[in-house]
Amino acid sequence: MTDGTLETVRLGDTGPEVGVQGLGCMGMSFAYGPADAEQSRAALERALDLGVTLFDTADSYGAGQNETFLAPFLGKHRDAVVIATKFSLTIPPDDPTRRIIRNDPPYIRQAVEASLRRLDVDEIDLYYMHRRDVNVPIEETVATMAELVREGKVKHLGLSEVTGDELRAAAAVHPIAAVQSEWSLFSRDIEAGVVPAAKELGVALVPYSPLGRGFLTGSFTDADRDLGQDDFRRQQPRFTGGNAAANAALLEPVRAIAAARGASAGQIALAWVQQRAAVHGLPVVPIPGTTKPHRVAENTAAARIVLTDEELASLEPIAARVAGDRYADMSFTSAGRE
Ligand SMILES: NC(=O)c1ccc[n+]([C@@H]2O[C@H](COP(=O)([O-])OP(=O)(O)OC[C@H]3O[C@@H](n4cnc5c(N)ncnc54)[C@H](OP(=O)(O)O)[C@@H]3O)[C@@H](O)[C@H]2O)c1
Repeated sequence: MTDGTLETVRLGDTGPEVGVQGLGCMGMSFAYGPADAEQSRAALERALDLGVTLFDTADSYGAGQNETFLAPFLGKHRDAVVIATKFSLTIPPDDPTRRIIRNDPPYIRQAVEASLRRLDVDEIDLYYMHRRDVNVPIEETVATMAELVREGKVKHLGLSEVTGDELRAAAAVHPIAAVQSEWSLFSRDIEAGVVPAAKELGVALVPYSPLGRGFLTGSFTDADRDLGQDDFRRQQPRFTGGNAAANAALLEPVRAIAAARGASAGQIALAWVQQRAAVHGLPVVPIPGTTKPHRVAENTAAARIVLTDEELASLEPIAARVAGDRYADMSFTSAGRE
């Protein structure tokens, strides 16, 4: 970042060149309570102005609403935007705590057509399997995804929340550009198996929830007290009850570094992800989510921050002390199957 816009990085050995930070668009339609559509549109434009090119959505975000919301933005800037979406997960509207996961070939074919239609594009730049359906061999899922590449419906393939072994099996079928998994100061389980496998295979990491779903910024400290009834974070054990208070106290070193540098706690969290990936020798494109243009500017500016060894050392113990899992049901995550 030299002139205020982001530098770029190749998304793994086979993927596209993108800005070193992406934008998570989920919150514009889903999960964290109502969002202001006009502000969200401004956030998309601001991101592109600042060098963000990877925009992240999924068919499950608001049951297709997030993809539909992004369509006009894509229509306006198709050549500049790398659009990533995902299949496999359905969240029944009458029970948002349930997850239905399907990775069988007929389902994937139906899902890709629906995403193409909602996004109003001819081709999806990066198509992820969102969650693993353990009843379907991953080779079968990836073989179907590879057919979509050959048919020109999809350019690059990605996988979310896969284990290191699942990634190896998938990459033997077709090159995988990126793995999208949770990675932050609070969530480091992927460093054991997934990150080394990605490094070995030339796959980039796209860390989701790099701000710990906002918790690392200090914007909320207790989901039950601070967030709306339908906010997804109320389902996450680490943000509720006694865990929330204990975890908020862990953020003291983040706040201290931020105060000393005149930065925000969120910027320190984002700088940490970039530097942690560099330690592992991996290309990384975190996708912080925000619905607000001024926060896009704040988050992208974090790419200019280089933490010292002393600062990194003070942040090192945090993740191991976090109380409570990142999901109520960890079987849907890589850590739950490793
Ligand atoms: N593959 C998967 O399974 C998976 C799972 C979860 C998410 N994702 C993807 O990853 C993206 C990012 O993850 P996420 O949205 O869950 O979590 P996140 O990026 O860690 O945090 C987002 C939250 O932080 C707030 N925020 C953002 N920037 C801020 C700032 N500078 N100061 C204060 N608050 C700030 C946002 O609120 P405002 O909107 O009010 O700014 C939002 O509530 C999602 O949008 C989605 O595309 C993927």
